Amino acid sequence: MAKIDLDLDAIEALNREILRAMSYEKSRSGPPEDFLELPDIPSGRYVDEDFWAAEWQAVWKKSWFYACHSDQLPEAGSYLLWQNTGSPILILRGEDLQIRAFYNTCRHRGAPLVMDDAGNTRGLVCSYHGWTYNLEGELLNMRDKRDFVNVDMSCKSLVPVRCEMFGNWVFVSEDPEAEPLMDYLGPMATQLMQFQPDRLRYVDHHGFDVKCNIKVLMDAFLETYHVKSIHQHTVDRFIDSRGTAIQLWDQGHSIMCTPNRREGWRDPGTIGLQHMDTVTDVPRVHNLSFNIFPNFVSPPHAAGIPVLTFWPKGMNEMRVESHWFAPDWGDGEMPNQDVWNTRIANWDRILFEDTQFAEHIQKSVQSPGFKGISLSYQERRLYHWHEEVDRRIRKHVANPPEHLMLDPAMERWRSAQKREGMT
Ligand code: FES
Ligand SMILES: [Fe+2]
Repeated sequence: MAKIDLDLDAIEALNREILRAMSYEKSRSGPPEDFLELPDIPSGRYVDEDFWAAEWQAVWKKSWFYACHSDQLPEAGSYLLWQNTGSPILILRGEDLQIRAFYNTCRHRGAPLVMDDAGNTRGLVCSYHGWTYNLEGELLNMRDKRDFVNVDMSCKSLVPVRCEMFGNWVFVSEDPEAEPLMDYLGPMATQLMQFQPDRLRYVDHHGFDVKCNIKVLMDAFLETYHVKSIHQHTVDRFIDSRGTAIQLWDQGHSIMCTPNRREGWRDPGTIGLQHMDTVTDVPRVHNLSFNIFPNFVSPPHAAGIPVLTFWPKGMNEMRVESHWFAPDWGDGEMPNQDVWNTRIANWDRILFEDTQFAEHIQKSVQSPGFKGISLSYQERRLYHWHEEVDRRIRKHVANPPEHLMLDPAMERWRSAQKREGMT
């Protein structure tokens, strides 16, 4: 990964802004005077086939995505077959221990090189006609090479997929023209550095399918307006959602930070666990949540980080994956396994609360009763996310579905705020 240092000045500057904004949010009696009325988000963005095709092409085939942790590829030849953006992608650690990604597609007639979701191999042998590749994706041997006319084996390496690291996290993009990962992450990388991404260890990941358009569920993780209802007996007992501060960044990224109800409250699920000493006061005391556009959602904690990723499986179906990472515990087995098991089980309960309505909302979305989405000031982060979808559609799609594109109201508001030095 490109080396980036811990920039405490930048982190503390954001912390000061978050503290100011949380105090403002708690005290206000309405939206800020200069806030613009947000137009409704049209229902067609959730059900229209043309919009879905444009979104798929511009967002889900073009962005950078968290794929896995380097601990999941422990040695030369370790691989994962990763298919979350539709294509079969082989993520593989080479002899030089570098992690690379390729399409799992033999250059002869397209047969797969690996069939298992994960494993370890000394080389790649196609099961169809026996072409062999090394761990760096180069073609080594073709059966009956004498029968191929003028073949140049050096032009028949596996087709690479963009693959870059942020610390121990492996990101992939199917867009050969995508900017370098660090440019994509921008200030998000600066802020995440306090959580030691280059030392985090892999703990667990698991997932489940939900029958809804991916935006039905993404929307739920971009606001705290729902906390008082669906997390009434859990999260709402501890956090004060009326004080949620929001920062909207370029590329569709954003963060929010919610104060605790009681000063000095600490998550009991983290007691006894190792804490990272580089985490600064605001995320140590309050509740920060990151969204790396489009589908990476994480409320990081000094005692370890959960990450949610969301994957479309078509227009009306999706998958949620939940990943956990712990501070580096050194040699041997991870300590406090029981505490971690409880922590992950509690997290899954909250996740159930968040996802419980999704399939019902999907039925509504497909009915004449759904006329679109009306958003309040405190839900502005959703509008920002949807605007980024549109920016990418305009960049990558020849004929954007104009009738379903948004008026970029948040972009105008952000520009005005920047002129006034507010962000
Ligand atoms: S498809 Fe792989 S060797 Fe023929
Ligand atoms: Fe929630």
